[in-house]
Amino acid sequence: MKVVVIFHSVTGTTKKLAHSIASGAAMEPGVEVVAVEIVGADIVEGRFRNIELLRQLDNADAIIFGSPTYMGCVSAQFKAFTDATSEWWARQAWANKIAAGFTIGANLSGDQLNTIQYLQVFASQHGMFWVGLDTPGNYDPAMRNRLGAQSGLIAHSVDIDLNETDLLTARYLGQRVVQTAQKLAA
Ligand SMILES: Cc1cc2nc3c(=O)[nH]c(=O)nc-3n(C[C@H](O)[C@H](O)[C@H](O)COP(=O)(O)O)c2cc1C
Repeated sequence: MKVVVIFHSVTGTTKKLAHSIASGAAMEPGVEVVAVEIVGADIVEGRFRNIELLRQLDNADAIIFGSPTYMGCVSAQFKAFTDATSEWWARQAWANKIAAGFTIGANLSGDQLNTIQYLQVFASQHGMFWVGLDTPGNYDPAMRNRLGAQSGLIAHSVDIDLNETDLLTARYLGQRVVQTAQKLAA
């Protein structure tokens, strides 16, 4: 089973979440986990051009999408990536893969939910199955998901040091995605 965590990050906080998610996914036996970073150089004259990166997603069983929240949605670099997937969309090449998403913002309620909802719509356009969190915020016995969003992982950081609970929740999301993909495969 292959899981890809694909993300864009400028100051490194989304990247830290991506690596926590990847470490959670890798806790399950028999899973190949690949973390793929979208960088500015992938975009040439406003269009995402890294076709090799896109091809790395083709044989994934699950793809976990991450972007910082920028002006209430995904970053422009992440959006350039999603626009570049339209040819994959036309073929529904990612249909029936598992999908999940994560984001971070500098505000506690800085419209991160809109970013998650965009990722969910994007995954649905590709015919993917969306996996959220089964961690009921402050009712979660393991004290994960401190911000309480369940459609995806929402994190908050005032600087580049991440909150430990957000990292724990990220690890759990990685595990949950793999477990769900395994159930689907069975
Ligand atoms: C252009 C820009 C727009 C931003 N917009 C938001 C926002 O709408 N809501 C929010 O909570 N934080 C916002 N932030 C803060 C970033 O989401 C935050 O610093 C995040 O941790 C950056 O992720 P990175 O370290 O992966 O680059 C913005 C930052 C920048 C540079």
